[in-house]
Amino acid sequence: MLPRLGWPLPGVFAHRCGGALAPENTLAGLHIAAGLGLRAVEFDVMLSADGSPWLLHDEALARTTNGDGLLCETPDSALCLLDAGAYRHPAFAGEPLPTLESAALACRRLGLLANVEIKPAAGFEERTGEVVARRVIELWSGTDLPLVSSFSRSALAAARAAAPELPLGSLYERVPSDWPVRLRELGALTLHCRADLVDDEMLGEARAAGVPVLCYTVNDPALATALFARGVTAVFSDRIDRIREHG
Ligand code: G3P
Ligand code: MG
Repeated sequence: MLPRLGWPLPGVFAHRCGGALAPENTLAGLHIAAGLGLRAVEFDVMLSADGSPWLLHDEALARTTNGDGLLCETPDSALCLLDAGAYRHPAFAGEPLPTLESAALACRRLGLLANVEIKPAAGFEERTGEVVARRVIELWSGTDLPLVSSFSRSALAAARAAAPELPLGSLYERVPSDWPVRLRELGALTLHCRADLVDDEMLGEARAAGVPVLCYTVNDPALATALFARGVTAVFSDRIDRIREHG
């Protein structure tokens, strides 16, 4: 039997925690999203040199923190000293790089639903899928499990093997035509794709199969309205101050 997503999908997910209103993938972003009334957030998770899950989008630390080198080659002892806020604005200086654990606790405290995107560094796909799946099950124990997605098929397969009960989403740029087979193989529940690459034939097939489609990254309210009208269930947005549920 397929695992279940224990919550109805909201129309809008704050992208990378707080979208453009906060440094990406930070606890500050989660607080801003919750303060604006968002019900759900998306964030990216990667493993450190110690094999611990941290929130980061790029493999390299330099763009969004005051560190350098790669996250996957940096130990936890160095990651916990990094500033992940100052790059965005001095008002966010001192914002830590969050662990998956701190993000999970914040989501639970703030009542935010989550889409955890497994973002493996190259060569660490299976390990990342397995570790993130296990930690998600522990950290969200007793409450609504996040939807866990990835561009990496092997990361998702490892996540599925590690946690049969985990709700999974298949993430693409453009959805491939064999998506139903891939979804079935993984026991995945949702399709996630680029908003500018979504096509109506796929939307029709997904609707007929009862599979929700979620699109990234949608910052224009008119585009969100058009996507919802075409059958898209939810959008990931950086402009959470502008995009509202159902446009
Ligand atoms: O999960 C949706 C979206 O976040 C995928 O793109 O590069 O922003 O992680 P990216
Ligand atoms: Mg992402």
